[in-house]
Amino acid sequence: MRIPKSIFFGLILLLAASGGFHVALADHDEHGEKRQHRERHRGNHSEHGGKSCFTPVSNTAYAESCGDCHFAYQPELLPSGSWEKILAGLEDHFGEAVELDSEAKKDISKYLNDNAAERSSAKRAVKIMRSLGSKTPLRITEIPYIQEKHHDISPDVLKRESIGSLSNCSACHTTAENGVYNDDNVKIPK
Ligand code: HEC
Ligand code: HEC
Repeated sequence: MRIPKSIFFGLILLLAASGGFHVALADHDEHGEKRQHRERHRGNHSEHGGKSCFTPVSNTAYAESCGDCHFAYQPELLPSGSWEKILAGLEDHFGEAVELDSEAKKDISKYLNDNAAERSSAKRAVKIMRSLGSKTPLRITEIPYIQEKHHDISPDVLKRESIGSLSNCSACHTTAENGVYNDDNVKIPK
């Protein structure tokens, strides 16, 4: 069967417009090295194992002591200067007294310091550092990059019983514990 030229080019245009044409071409073109490169590239942007997410919390003392009252924030969310200030002010920690024995404090301090935002290559940690410059806030929710990402969430939504405040990352980021904050995994609770 012969397809008239005009219909043939019409189809190509349609495919191109839908992106299908590009995919078909890419699949056809990419062999060997090229394909490997593409997969590596894609892997780097995948949900897990890549640099697109933070490393899940791995320190037991930190998870237990600092995940007791709220979500145990990944160390990559703040620079070491912020973590130092937070640990130095635990007797008045946002109005609460947090008690830590000196062993646990040392362990937590090293963990936070070793894994702080400025030592991370995760793309969101890089953005955090870029937006902070040399500032070392006590809160993640004071980071300009973080504020900007959430500026269209109304205060009424944040006050919902299911949320409380922007500090409650895991209320909306269903995969926060895995260090995954992309918008595909956000669900604002009622
Ligand atoms: C006794 C309860 C309690 C414990 C234990 C605790 N915190 Fe907090 N933390 C709070 C409260 C309350 C806030 C303020 C939350 C808010 O404003 O919604 C807070 C806020 C924070 C914030 C700022 C969150 C934001 O708004 O960006 C960080 C960071 C933080 N805590 C780190 C720690 C670390 C590190 C530890 C362990 C050494 C710890 N917390 C242990 C009660 C606690
Ligand atoms: C009330 C729900 C809510 C809470 C609480 C919340 N977020 Fe978000 N967050 C969102 C939404 C919605 C977006 C997507 C914004 C957009 O459209 O790009 C987002 C985006 C982000 C992004 C950017 C993701 C990207 O791919 O660009 C990061 C990083 C992030 N949040 C981290 C946090 C952290 C850390 C906390 C806790 C300190 C937090 N969020 C608390 C709802 C929330």
